[in-house]
Amino acid sequence: MSGQFKRLLVTSALPYANGPIHLGHLAGVYVPSDIYVRYQRLKKREVIHICGSDEHGVAITIRAEKEGVSPQEIVDRYHASMKESFQRLGVSFDNYSRTSLPIHHETTQAFFLKVLEKGFLVRKTTRQLFCTKTQQFLADRYVQGTCPYCGSDEAKGDQCEKCGRPMDPLSLINPISVLSGERPEIRETTHWFFDLKKAQPDLIEWQKTHPEWKDNVKNYCRGAFEEGLQERCITRDLRWGVKVPLEGDEGKVIYVWFDAPIGYISSTKEWAIAQGDPDLWKKYWCDPGTKLVHFIGKDNIFFHALMFPAMLMTHGDFILPENVPAFEFMNLEGRKLSTSKNWAVWLPEYLEAFEPDPLRYYLAYNAPENQDSDFKWQEFQNINNSHLADVFGNFVNRVVSMTLRYFDGKVPARGALSAEDEKILELIRTMPETVGALHEAVHLREAVGMTLESARAGNLYLQEQQPWKLMKESPERCGTVLNVSLEVCRALAVLFHPITPFTSEKIWRMLNLPGRVEDQEWDQAGIPVLEPGHALGEPVILFRKFEDEEIQKQLDKLTVSEPAQEEDSGIAPFLDQQVAYDEVAKLDLRVADVLEAERVKKTEKLLQLKIRVGKEERTIVAGVAQYYAPEDLVGKQIIVVANLEPAKIRGIESKGMLLAANDGERLTLMMPAQPCKSGARVL
Ligand code: MF3
Ligand code: ZN
Repeated sequence: MSGQFKRLLVTSALPYANGPIHLGHLAGVYVPSDIYVRYQRLKKREVIHICGSDEHGVAITIRAEKEGVSPQEIVDRYHASMKESFQRLGVSFDNYSRTSLPIHHETTQAFFLKVLEKGFLVRKTTRQLFCTKTQQFLADRYVQGTCPYCGSDEAKGDQCEKCGRPMDPLSLINPISVLSGERPEIRETTHWFFDLKKAQPDLIEWQKTHPEWKDNVKNYCRGAFEEGLQERCITRDLRWGVKVPLEGDEGKVIYVWFDAPIGYISSTKEWAIAQGDPDLWKKYWCDPGTKLVHFIGKDNIFFHALMFPAMLMTHGDFILPENVPAFEFMNLEGRKLSTSKNWAVWLPEYLEAFEPDPLRYYLAYNAPENQDSDFKWQEFQNINNSHLADVFGNFVNRVVSMTLRYFDGKVPARGALSAEDEKILELIRTMPETVGALHEAVHLREAVGMTLESARAGNLYLQEQQPWKLMKESPERCGTVLNVSLEVCRALAVLFHPITPFTSEKIWRMLNLPGRVEDQEWDQAGIPVLEPGHALGEPVILFRKFEDEEIQKQLDKLTVSEPAQEEDSGIAPFLDQQVAYDEVAKLDLRVADVLEAERVKKTEKLLQLKIRVGKEERTIVAGVAQYYAPEDLVGKQIIVVANLEPAKIRGIESKGMLLAANDGERLTLMMPAQPCKSGARVL
């Protein structure tokens, strides 16, 4: 953060109160945001972290219907459980609210009326899907079907989770009522629409001022602008939710995605009241000196980078987000997480078996930052046992126990410093700046890697200096080495605090330092402060190693419930829409020779190919690196779409696209059955 901001308002997406927190939530939102906020607090910035339970919408009512209880009962249960889970994992919200509170309903209704007054709400009679069996309109997730854009057959009425596009239920192919399993009919009803279309020019201008945003967010928005933003229906024929505050609209509620982000504002209001200064929230939401940052998963990009900013703009009293760090998804053991199929790791269950810090560390180390990542129990075990137990924990424990043994638990005096001593002291002196820049930019994986580097450097230093040997030859030199090492331990406590706060606190107590780590200053982390003679506290083991059996136990829990019927065959459904021959003939498919192939750096999936199509040489980028090694392709012939618009992929201009079959398990390249002249047309 540059100096221009006075304070930070960090929000984490409000999770639906319809089930316990799982690792998908944590990896994609709450661990990254908490690390960012803890870092900012150590930087002594004025920062608050705002969240709460999203308690409206069909996600809740469907769950209630499944269990045969009221929506209120569902949200009460899960709000309490989520709040507790976050606390136990050390996710340090300044306020965790809930959208069923009166303060939120009032804030939302006032917001709605203001936007209406500004001329951005339009009332229209629309056609909607209606379930004749249950006699109700099928809002949002009450209807499912095939996505008209990407062909996924699990698209919901509000959004396709596969391609992230917002959905108009009427455009779903083969819609099915979730309530009755039947095909719904179309009926008319009246609703309020937010004129997102009218906001598009302003959104475009505003986004131009943020070239630094992550590619996933920028690309998503660019695509949405190109397709053209549409008016969005923001009311529903439902009973559960914030009532539309207008006569004639009795029986209608405000759409959950209109009210939920306003929840960030009402949660901040609730926080201000708890601070004893009810107007304090305005300083955060209305003063341009505030930097607003929304941490979200990639499925929420539309609402945080387009819809909510447009709402804020039209309302007029509020600042806009400065950044929207959107994370990709975390899979589990190579498969997409699915809460309904119980293919998930639930936080309460995790915490029954393991400590919080190893999970925080592993999720940050393996964060789905620029692409989906995979949670593997065995990798979790390895990372814990090596990075945390063998490197970080072992270093601190050895230093403290040697001090105990050789110097009666008192910080030994520091004699003349060797070049190695200077080097490690210099390293911890510069680490706050190095790691800080990475936290600032939300480069989480690199920040974690660099933080671990400081522990590795400490370990190496100890290995080379061998204080246990020095003790016999030169106790004074041994004292110097331990003195320096203790300073490194202290620095590590501060540097690791955002990632592993519980462990940092333990180190602080082992070093018997005053106060708490969270009250320290990041920039001072590497400045030596220990007084010779200062008595250390009791050593404790920081990280235990995880045994194979306990990991196996977790793996055994992962069995997919409801197998056969819901199992994804991997074969995409047929598209309903037919196309005329003329349309097909517009595709210029050609045989091409692969001349060269190499991996695109820093990606797992991409290969860069030099191909020859007839007389022409071209470069294309293809997402097949997981299935083909570069050397497998050189000299082969493939089929390409030769007249595809060129696209920049990772800075490389790609002119064309190769054809491959996707059976859900792997991609198989299409190749001529026998050698063929380069450039031959395929049809
Ligand atoms: N409950 C939504 C989800 O889990 C996220 C809401 S974020 C907010 O996808 F902006 F609406 F708060
Ligand atoms: Zn889709």
